[in-house]
Amino acid sequence: MTSDILIIGGGVIGLAIAIELKLRGAHVTVLCRDFQAAATHAAAGMLAPDAENIPDEAMYSLCWRSRSLYPDWTRKLEDSIGLNTGYRPCGILAPIYEESRGAGEQRSRGAGEAISSSSPLSPSFPSPHARESPAYWLDRAAIHQYQSGLGDEVVGGWWYPEDAQVDNRALAHVLWTAAESVGVELKDGITVEAFLQQQGQVTGVQTNAGVIRAAHYVLATGAWSNELLPLPVRPRKGQMLSLRVPEFLPELPLKRILFGQDIYIVPRSERSLIIGATSEDVGFTPHNTPAGIQSLLQRAIRLYPQLQDYPIQEFWWGFRPTTPDELPILGASHCPNLTFATGHYRNGILLAPITAVLLADLIWEQKSDPLLSNFHYSRFHTQPSTSTSMLTHSANFSNGHRHHPIVSSENPPLLTQDSTLVIAGKTFQSRLMTGTGKYRSIEEMQQSITASGCQIVTVAVRRVQTKAPGHEGLAEALDWTKIWMLPNTAGCQTADEAIRVARLGREMAKLLGQEDNNFVKLEVIPDPKYLLPDPIGTLEAAKQLVKEGFVVLPYINADPMLAKHLEDVGCATVMPLASPIGSGQGLKTTANIQIIIENAGVPVVVDAGIGSPSEAAQAMELGADALLINSAIALSQNPAVMAHAMNLATVAGRLAYLAGRMPIKDYASASSPLTGTITS
Ligand code: GLY
Repeated sequence: MTSDILIIGGGVIGLAIAIELKLRGAHVTVLCRDFQAAATHAAAGMLAPDAENIPDEAMYSLCWRSRSLYPDWTRKLEDSIGLNTGYRPCGILAPIYEESRGAGEQRSRGAGEAISSSSPLSPSFPSPHARESPAYWLDRAAIHQYQSGLGDEVVGGWWYPEDAQVDNRALAHVLWTAAESVGVELKDGITVEAFLQQQGQVTGVQTNAGVIRAAHYVLATGAWSNELLPLPVRPRKGQMLSLRVPEFLPELPLKRILFGQDIYIVPRSERSLIIGATSEDVGFTPHNTPAGIQSLLQRAIRLYPQLQDYPIQEFWWGFRPTTPDELPILGASHCPNLTFATGHYRNGILLAPITAVLLADLIWEQKSDPLLSNFHYSRFHTQPSTSTSMLTHSANFSNGHRHHPIVSSENPPLLTQDSTLVIAGKTFQSRLMTGTGKYRSIEEMQQSITASGCQIVTVAVRRVQTKAPGHEGLAEALDWTKIWMLPNTAGCQTADEAIRVARLGREMAKLLGQEDNNFVKLEVIPDPKYLLPDPIGTLEAAKQLVKEGFVVLPYINADPMLAKHLEDVGCATVMPLASPIGSGQGLKTTANIQIIIENAGVPVVVDAGIGSPSEAAQAMELGADALLINSAIALSQNPAVMAHAMNLATVAGRLAYLAGRMPIKDYASASSPLTGTITS
C-alpha cells in the first residue's frame, strides 16, 4: 500500500512529525538512512530558548512555544509505551566572567529581575514581558550562594528557571518505539538518492531499494538535506564528551544545567555530565580531535573546577544542520506535495514538538500557522535588483580604470532569413551560451552575461552547492526570468555522480522559478589534466537521464560515432569540444566537428576551447548551431567587452554560414574585373 505521507529522515524531527500525522489518521512511512547518524543522538538535549539567547523574534517564539509543549508531549509519549524520555524542567544557570560582564549583563531578552545574595530567589517573580519567560540576574555573591562549586572567576550570571532538558538519546528511542507502536511504517537503512518530479509534483523518491511513492513527502534530512535538494543547509560539527560522577560522591552535585561561554555542562539523572560543544565549519569531517576536546575541557574546568577529577565516559561528535541565517526551513516547498522540515541548527531537539504540530496542521489540515512564513525556504531567493537585470542592451562596462561607452549592438535588418535555435522544443534567439565560472567578480560576470546577449547560462551545480567563489549569490546575481539555466555536472568523474548532480541541478532550476526546466549539460570527466570527457560514462549517464525525463546536452570529445549514439539514446544536442576546456587553443577538431554537423539530427553546440572571436566565428561558419564560451570571456582583460565581441562573432559566423562563403581558388582573381556580372 502506498502511504499518504512519506517522511525522509528518521531523526527526532522526522519521527515527531510521523507520530503526529499518524495520530491524526494518516498512513505514514519514515525512511531513515542511518538512525544512529542523526544529530538527534549527538545533542545534549537542552531545551533552552532563554539560555541560547536567540535574537530573532519569530525563532524565539517558535522555540518558546515548543518548550511549552514539552511536558505534555513527553508525558503522552512515555505513557503510551512505558519508557522514560528524561524530560526535566531543571532550569539553566548562565554564569559569566569579568571579561564579558558588559555583554553578559545585557544578554537576557528584556530586563530580568536583579537578585543579590540578600534577596533570596522567589519562584513567583513576574515575567518581565507577558510573552517571555522570567530571567533573573544574579550578582557574584548570589550566584555562588545559589550554585556551589562554580569557578572563582564567575562574577555573576543569569538564571533561566523555565529552560529544561530531555535525554535526547532516550527521546530518540522513545520516538522510534512510539512510532512503531502507533503503526508508522519505519524503514531503516534506506538511502534516498533523488526526488522524481513531473509537472511540478513529486512523483516518488529513488532509493537504494527502488522507487517509493506517496501522496505527500516531507524532507527532514537535517545536515544532509542538500544532497537531495539545493537547499542552503550545511553541516556544523559539534564535538562532545561525557563524564561520570565518581563513586565517592553520593549523588550528582549539580542539579541544573550550566551554560557558559561556548560551553555547557548538562547533568543527567543517571550520574553523568554531558559537556558540549564545539561549533566547527569543517563539512562532514568525522571524529573527535585533541584540539576540540581540549577546548571543551578547559572551558568546562574553568566553569566548574571539580569535574577535572571525574572519570571520562565517552566522546562523540555530530553535525548540526545549519542555514545561512541559522533559522530552520519549515513548511511549503516549490512542489505542492513536498514539505520542508530541516535546518534546525542548534535547536532540533527543542523544536521537535512544535515542528510536528505545525507541519501536521499544514499537511493534514491545510492550516498554516502565521509563524511559518518566517521560515519559508524562499527567503534565500531574493529577486535580483534592477541594476543587475538583463534588460540593458548597451551598458557601460568598466575596465577597472575608465568607462568605455559601447555602442548599442542593435543589428541592421537581416537580408537573410534565419531559423531560431530550438533545443527540445524550446526556442532561443541567441546562439551563444555562456557560463558563470572564472570571473574576477560578480559584477564582471553580470556585465559580461548582459553584453554577450546570451539566453542560456550554464551553472556548475557542484560549485553552487559548495559555494565556490563567485557562486554564493548566483540566485540573486542573474535575472532567472530572462536567462535559461543550464545546470552542468562539472566535477563529476563517474556516470553515477553525474546522474546524482543532474537531479540536484533540476531542483536548483526549479527553486529559481524555472519549473519546466529539465535541461542538463552532462559532463563526466575523470581526467583532471586534460579534462577530457569519458565517452562510456557519458553515454551511460545520458541513457539514464533521458529515461528520467531530462533534456540532456552531453559534452563530448569531437567523436562522430559517439555523437550519433548519444543522439540515438535521446540526447537533445551534442556538444563537441573544439579543444580542451579552458585551454583557449581554438578549433583543433575541425574535421570531426564537420562530420558531426553533417550527420546530426539535433543541434550541435561547439563547447570548450574557443579562445577568440575569430575562432567563434569560424565554428559558426562550419555550421555549428550554437557555441558555449566561458573562459575566453571571463579570462579576457575586459570580459564585458570580450563578451560583446563574442556575441557579434557568433552572429557574424552564423550569417556567413547562411550566406555561404565563396569558393577557395588556386589563383588570384582581380577584384575589379574588366568584365563582370553587374550589367547596366
Ligand atoms: N544546542 C546546543 C548545541 O547545538 O550545541
